[in-house]
Parts: sequence; C-alpha cells; structure tokens
Amino acid sequence: MLGWLVTAPLAVLRWLISPIPLTVIAVLAAWAYYSISKRLDFWKSRGVPGPKPRLPWGTEYGSPFSAVTEFESWLYNEHGGKKFCGFLELQQPVLFVGDLDLIRAITIKDFEHFPNQRDHLGTDFWKETLILLKGAEWKETRAVMSPTFSASKLKAMHQLTLDNAQNLTKYLQKQMKEEGQVEIKDAFGRFTMDNIAACAFGVDCNSFVDPNSQFAKNAAKFTNFPPIMMLRFVAETFLPYSIARWFPDYGLKVGAFFADVVMKTIAHREKNPSSTRDFLQLLMDTKDKDGKRILSDSSIVAQSSLFLVAGYDTTSMLLTFAGFCLALNQEIQERVQQEIDEALERHGGLTYEAIQDMPYLDRVISETLRLYPPATRMERVCAKEYTLPDTDIQIPAGTLVYMPVFAMHRDPELYPDPLQFDPDRFLPEEKEKRHPCAYIPFGNGPRNCIAMRFALFEAKVALVSVLRELTLKPAPETPPHPMPLDPDAFLTTPKDRKVPLLAVPRQAAAQ
Ligand code: HEM
Repeated sequence: MLGWLVTAPLAVLRWLISPIPLTVIAVLAAWAYYSISKRLDFWKSRGVPGPKPRLPWGTEYGSPFSAVTEFESWLYNEHGGKKFCGFLELQQPVLFVGDLDLIRAITIKDFEHFPNQRDHLGTDFWKETLILLKGAEWKETRAVMSPTFSASKLKAMHQLTLDNAQNLTKYLQKQMKEEGQVEIKDAFGRFTMDNIAACAFGVDCNSFVDPNSQFAKNAAKFTNFPPIMMLRFVAETFLPYSIARWFPDYGLKVGAFFADVVMKTIAHREKNPSSTRDFLQLLMDTKDKDGKRILSDSSIVAQSSLFLVAGYDTTSMLLTFAGFCLALNQEIQERVQQEIDEALERHGGLTYEAIQDMPYLDRVISETLRLYPPATRMERVCAKEYTLPDTDIQIPAGTLVYMPVFAMHRDPELYPDPLQFDPDRFLPEEKEKRHPCAYIPFGNGPRNCIAMRFALFEAKVALVSVLRELTLKPAPETPPHPMPLDPDAFLTTPKDRKVPLLAVPRQAAAQ
C-alpha cells in the first residue's frame, strides 16, 4: 500500500515532464501570461491614464484594503481622475470619471449606454429590488414607485415622522440627564430605524424603548454585514456568479424575517382596510387600469427591504454629521434655531408646510451632504460600447464606471476652502455659479435616489424637533473637525462609529 503511495505520484511527475504534457503546460502558461498581461494593459492600450496595475489586486494603493475615500481621492488628485482615468479592480476594468460634463453625459444624455447599477449585493434576496432591476423592468418599476415619493404622499407621512422625531428629542433629554452626554450616532440611528419601520413596514419598532426588538436586531444584520455575509459578497465581486452562488446566502435567511413582517401586514390590511398612507400601503395601492395590483407580493417585500437598507444608514449618517457640524459651529446653529422659531410661529406649529419653509436649514443639510456625502461615489455599468466624447477612446460593454462624489465635493477648485463648513455655499446665486454635477450626494439622472425628497424631509423633521428644544454642543470626547472617518466602512462613517455630544436645553444654553 505504502509503496503505491510513493510510486503513483512519481509516475505522474515523470509523465508531466515528458515532452507532450510539458509542451501543453508551457502553451497554457504562455496563454495565461498573455491574457493577464493584456488585461493589465487594458487602459494603457486605450490611451487612458491611470496608476500601473499589479497582480493580484489590480490597481494597488497602500494595501488592497485601504480606505475607499483615500483611494478615490488618490485617483482623483494624482492620476488624472479629475478628468478621467482607468484602473483595475482585481481583473475588472473601472473607468473613474471626475469630469463634470462627462458625468452629466454618462448619467443623463447617454443614459442608454449606462442604464444600470452594478449587479450584486451578496444575496439573492435583493434580486427584485429597484436598484438591481435592469432595462425595461427597472423603468416600469421605477415609474410605478415614483409617485410614492411625491410631496402629497410625504405630507401624509408627516405625523408618523413627527411622532418618531418627538421620541428622539425625549430620548436625548433623558440620555443627557442620565449620562451627562448623548451619543448622537446611536440616537439618530434609532430614529431612522423607527421611521423606516413605520413608513415602509407599518411596524411600531420603538427602538428608543427597546433597541433589541426583533425588527431592530434583524435590520442590524442587514446593515452591519456579519463576516459570513461578506464572504458571499466578495465571492460575487470577484468570481463568476455560477461559482459564487454556492457560497452561503445569509441574506436570504435575514430576508425571511422581513418577508414575514410584510406579508402579515399585507394580509391584515387586505382584510381590514387601513387609512394609513405609509409606503407599504402606497405600494399595495399601485393598481393597473383593471384595478389589479401592479407590484407582486415578492416585489413589495423586496422594495420595502431595500428602503430599509438604502435609507437607514444613509439618513442616520446625514443626521449624525449635521449634528456634529452644528455643535462645532454655534453661530450657524443659532441661526437655524431662530429660523425654526419664526417658521413655527408663522405656520402655527411643526407642520409639513413649516418644514418646507426653512431655507437656511436646507442649506445646512446641503453643506453637510457636501462635506460628508454618505455614498462616496456613484456607479454605473456600461451596457453598450461607448466612445468618450471628443476622443476616440472606446469603452466596451461590461466596464464599470465610478464617479467620485466625496473627492469632488472636497475639490478646492469647486469649493474654495473645502473643509470649511459654510451653508451659504448653497445660496441660490452661489449654486448658479457651479456646474449642476458639482453636487451629487443623491446621484444624478433618471437613476438617482428615488427617495431624496423623503430623506431630506425626515432629516429636517428630526433636526427641527431636536433643535427647537435643545442646543447641541461639543462634549470632551467629541472628535475634532474634520471628522476622522472609518477606513473600513462602505459609507462615509465616523471613525470609532461614535459621536458623543452635549444636548443642553435651549434656555440653559443661552445663559
Ligand atoms: C441622506 C440619505 C440618502 C442618500 C445620501 C442617498 C443616496 C443615494 C444614492 C447616491 C443613490 C444612487 C444614485 C445614482 O447612482 O445616481 C441612491 C439610490 C437609491 N436610494 Fe437613496 N439615499 C438616501 C436615502 C434613501 C432613502 C431614505 C431611501 C428609501 C426610503 C432610499 C432609496 C433609494 C433607492 C430605492 C435607490 C435606487 C434607485 C434606482 O436604482 O432607481 N434612499 N440613493
């Protein structure tokens, strides 16, 4: 037996080094070398500038796992990305475009060449979500869903949002009394969770009372991917789907919880019609000319869950950074509070109309999203070969396109003294001086954030509810400006994921 174990490998080795297999191996190695070098030459051969790609990570900056914002700023500032440059993400060619006219062409004028987002989110659970749908299917679903976010529909959700914002204010007051400071990232996260649970699932989550409710626990699994889910995500990024699909699909398991919540609410509301006009009801109410619901049950489950994932971290980051910037800029905060007092008096309370009548608050939010855009870049996939305008550079179908939001928003040529927090950059006359694509925190063109209006509305309700009662101030451990960022996060996120502040009653703050 043992003799066989030794002789068999020796026989294989002898065969391998005999002339015919040796020739086959040499040809295969030469072919592999040729195709990999050709891929490494992808951008150079097209005359597109960019950093030299290396094996095995493609283009390397620092370590392969360095911070996304640093990597993108490096491409933007040092490799021609301010106009355009190319790099390799492992073997995937990526065109990195900072030129504002080209961004406008890709996202609007030549949309038919770039109609889709990248194709994966690490689980089959998302297959039917708007963000992953393509072509005609995306267009039809977007058209059906768009009216859900109209001004009149948002107005109907004002009371739900206001209730959650008032819970937030009470929670901050209680935290301040008990702890002597507040943790605003956590507090704004709870508000956003409750509001999306109420508006997209018809669920009263009340995470200010119970942060460990089943809803909050399952939502956290979606938004803070556990390592096992990352495995599938990485597999889908770097391997063909036919192989990646065999990796454990953790998202399907978590998704089953939300599918159950949505299906129970749909069944309940179909038996007992509800007067609530939340997103779930609006999606249920999408009817064709024969009065039949357009969106299937599984599509409604997918869209509601997408609202949770796309809307939770993004909006809570916006609120966290806005709170941080206001605490560090007391004069700006006082001006916001004065505007709030005047608008509430004009409108007889915290009404939907009062919220729409606060232009300075609107500028504060825009400036926050400029300095700390939650999504660091916009992405598209080239669906049809494209010639870059005024060049003969051809971009083949399948190429990924990145458009750098974070790096652009901090470009001193677009925003002088870019780290300075200055809401007046968004005065109408200042905005007019800039290219429309110089500010794109919600993306651009037909595929931009469908919920932009809702996100801005809920953020304003939360800030107004808090700032009419409380003044935010830096605590001893508040990070310095500009906020240091977490290098491992997908979204622009404070380092250490904590932002302690003081929330002082306004009368006391004024003394
Ligand atoms: C401050 C908060 C938010 C920011 C900064 C933000 C940002 C974005 C960005 C950058 C995109 C991609 C746009 C593009 O590529 O052109 C996007 C898409 C999307 N967002 Fe938001 N978002 C926010 C809040 C929300 C909320 C609250 C929801 C849901 C209730 C939501 C739902 C979506 C959906 C469904 C898409 C995909 C649209 C499509 O592919 O047609 N977002 N968002």
